[in-house]
Amino acid sequence: MKRVFGVFGDPIGHSLSPAMHNAAFSALGMDCIYHAFRVRPEKLEKAILGAEAMGFGGLNLTVPLKEAALKLNCIKPDPLAERIGAINTVVFEKAGEITGYNTDGLGAKQALLDAAVEIRGSKIVVAGAGGAARAIAFQLAADGAEITIINRTEERAIELAREISASVFPGRIKGTGLSGLKGLLREADILINTTTLGMHPNIDTAIATSEELQSHLTVFDIVYNPLETRLLREAKATGAKTVSGILMLVYQGAEAFKLWTGIEPPVELMKKTVLEALQA
Ligand code: ATR
Repeated sequence: MKRVFGVFGDPIGHSLSPAMHNAAFSALGMDCIYHAFRVRPEKLEKAILGAEAMGFGGLNLTVPLKEAALKLNCIKPDPLAERIGAINTVVFEKAGEITGYNTDGLGAKQALLDAAVEIRGSKIVVAGAGGAARAIAFQLAADGAEITIINRTEERAIELAREISASVFPGRIKGTGLSGLKGLLREADILINTTTLGMHPNIDTAIATSEELQSHLTVFDIVYNPLETRLLREAKATGAKTVSGILMLVYQGAEAFKLWTGIEPPVELMKKTVLEALQA
């Protein structure tokens, strides 16, 4: 009998996860299907327990459920998900336990590794202090990067830096406002944009322009709609190395796939499928 996997969220209609995972299952000859389900926060616990009762193979959670999932009694979060404060992958263990993971940070890390970028010891500027910034900053701090979080609302950056310092690397994470960006980028190795700047429909906005960017930088924009954001265009124009947000999407999915099945998924095919879906 087919094993069912799924993503819960609201709204969920535009999720690229079904296409990406179904392509992987099909290429591997696995009798599995992945479907998107609209689930509201107040029904999340019932939906997860229902999926478990029906023998689902695993779940992803997306907006607005990632933080809500951490508060549920039925899920035991792994330590990284607990620190990040959000769960995007649910695993139904054989022993009956339900475990919550967060693969967003791992997805970002793998996207950087793909671009042959060194993480340990590198100076990374993370722009933004929302959920995506949390996942990425916690992961890369744990991997030994020196991180500065910059954010329009400076207090959020300082607070996130304080939390990460307290639990991972005391004193090695800083938080600041946007005004110091140019100076920071002179010293930094990597800039990661986690803000919504540049995202459709605000495609003409960018956290930094060629004015601030430098050719020695690797510039990673987690925004993938449009595929080439203004930030990535400006980065290319200055001669910087660029990393597309599509890679984070694919790799967070690939990490979830491995947690559910123990099998390495075909990431190139997943990437191709997502690109096709975005261009359709
Ligand atoms: P997510 O959880 O998806 O990461 P979020 O919590 O809404 O999203 O965070 C969005 C980020 O984009 C925030 O860091 C936000 O800055 P504030 O904390 O100051 O709100 C940032 N952001 C959104 N619009 C922005 C803008 N016009 N200029 C600069 N930063 C912006």
